[in-house]
Amino acid sequence: EKVVLAYSGGLDTSVILKWLIKEFDYEVIAACCNAGQGEDFDAIEKKAIATGASKAVTIDIREEFITDYIYPTLKAGAIYEGDYLLGTSMARPLMAQKLVELAVDEGAFIICHGCTGKGNDQVRFETAIKAINPAMQIIAPWRTWDFQSREDLIEYAHQNNIPIEQTTEKIYSRDENIWHISHEGGELENPWNEHKKTIHVLSCEPEDAPDEPEYVTISFEKGEPVAIDGEKLGPIELLTRLNEMGSRNAVGTIDIIENRLVGMKSRGVYETPGGTILYQAHRDLEKLILDRDTMAYKAIVAQKFAELCYDGLWFTPLREAISAFVDKTQELMTGDVKMKLYKGTAWPVASRSPYSLYNEEFATFSADEVYDQSDAEGFINLWSLPLKIRAIQKQSLEGV
Ligand code: ARG
Ligand code: SIN
Repeated sequence: EKVVLAYSGGLDTSVILKWLIKEFDYEVIAACCNAGQGEDFDAIEKKAIATGASKAVTIDIREEFITDYIYPTLKAGAIYEGDYLLGTSMARPLMAQKLVELAVDEGAFIICHGCTGKGNDQVRFETAIKAINPAMQIIAPWRTWDFQSREDLIEYAHQNNIPIEQTTEKIYSRDENIWHISHEGGELENPWNEHKKTIHVLSCEPEDAPDEPEYVTISFEKGEPVAIDGEKLGPIELLTRLNEMGSRNAVGTIDIIENRLVGMKSRGVYETPGGTILYQAHRDLEKLILDRDTMAYKAIVAQKFAELCYDGLWFTPLREAISAFVDKTQELMTGDVKMKLYKGTAWPVASRSPYSLYNEEFATFSADEVYDQSDAEGFINLWSLPLKIRAIQKQSLEGV
């Protein structure tokens, strides 16, 4: 019986690999998704085979992750609980899809993952798997086996000759892809502890960033970034460059308490350098192009989109319908935004678009030919009419 294991090469999934073979005699196919986490995938495949996998594959999901998951979320302007740019949340459904495809190709009917029973990721993986292929069985070892801690896993690894990196003690639970890296655990578990400076993997603290600002101009077409400083770039290269710029200027780190779907609050530090620049720039372009009602309504929908994404409900009718609405709002979202990056901030400082609704002739404080200021009087009379009637009634009741 074959099992497809979502394998990262880390301690947990290495122990799981061995455990599946020893305890249940499964044939294990190790599948590693390259979402841009900058690992040595050849080494990970070799490690999987050395640990007993019958086959090890790396699936490069980077481009699809950006175009089909990141861009829809960016265009929606979806942000979870006001801060979190959903870097882990939006990767899970795509990974689930790839695992199902691999399982079907390999004639496997079971998928195994290393998520704990306390987190969001188990929900996202399994909800997505069920949405795509409801017959697929799922094994989640952390919910069933007797191991309780990292120490238990290390001991098992030693007993079973599983190679593990002993270089540094692993402090944080991390999840990295081309959009972000998350850090949970360690000193963060006490919310009164400030995060350590050394937590950063991509970026740095604002005080350690350069004293000179850096400028970058991002061009969007239909709400998606297509060029940096006038140079057309593919999605991977574009995001990689923005990550480098954002990282050296300390842009995009948040340190938050969030509400997990499974009920508890958790503390996390997230580095989303390029993504933060893109969110700010995209929002600025929308301010230039979207009418007031659409902008306000879109913010409501963005909130729902963020919750659906966070909650593992990517493959749902509502998420798809919201994306259709969002795409309609992005038809004219074409233009350039100049960003100033400086010590932790990404400021939009200039914007232009052929579809801009900003009209200098109407907006100017100087003399104009298009706006009759005396029109405002009648407008205000009608605008305030319900308030006036209410005030008259109140006065009459009070006998004024
Ligand atoms: N709390 C974030 C989320 O739910 C990050 C989760 C990180 N996952 C991980 N396996 N380390 O999206
Ligand atoms: C995990 O528990 O596996 C990681 C954290 C999360 O999924 O929220």
